Amino acid sequence: MLKTIISSGMDSSDARHVLISRGEIASVVARLASAISRDLRDKNPLLIGILKGSFIFMSDLVRALDFSLELDFIRLSSYGRGRQTSGSVRVVQGLRSEVPGRHVLVVEDIVDTGITVAFLLEYLKKKKPASLALCTLLDKPSRRRVPVTIDYTGMTVPDKFIVGYGIDCDEKFRNLPDICYLED
Ligand code: IMP
Ligand code: MG
Repeated sequence: MLKTIISSGMDSSDARHVLISRGEIASVVARLASAISRDLRDKNPLLIGILKGSFIFMSDLVRALDFSLELDFIRLSSYGRGRQTSGSVRVVQGLRSEVPGRHVLVVEDIVDTGITVAFLLEYLKKKKPASLALCTLLDKPSRRRVPVTIDYTGMTVPDKFIVGYGIDCDEKFRNLPDICYLED
């Protein structure tokens, strides 16, 4: 595996390794897009991305979908700083879109304990969508604390702290084009 020691101001404990290259990410996104197209074409779905982690995935995904759709973002906070989840979820920035009667697809970067998406699915269900499904780029099932049904999974990843392709550690590394993990 490729190993890079991040320069300037960070020590070797911040070493990162490429887990999924940009080329592999592109094929995963294409596969997800074709499965989503089969189910949601002609339904003018509303894709709801969870900020900030899903922003790059969302932008690649929607460009691979060649049918009419709308999108919105919601900002939730579950993580405190660093690598620990706080365990409680808040809506930090709500939706502008009307959800009742819509075919809704939640777009997430990574499902870890499941607490974030379980909260959001429950929150959206109360708004009476016509259908509700979940697409996640990454799934870390070994860390699950609440059960979650995932309709579209990009890749399953081991219990490592992931960064890159939109995903952060303390707001850093979102701009890495590959999906990497940080050393423990
Ligand atoms: P969950 O509530 O524990 O499932 O965590 C979901 C949220 O935590 C995701 O939306 C991510 O933004 C963040 N998260 C989970 N695992 C990681 C990781 O390995 N690296 C960075 N962020 C993560
Ligand atoms: Mg995050």
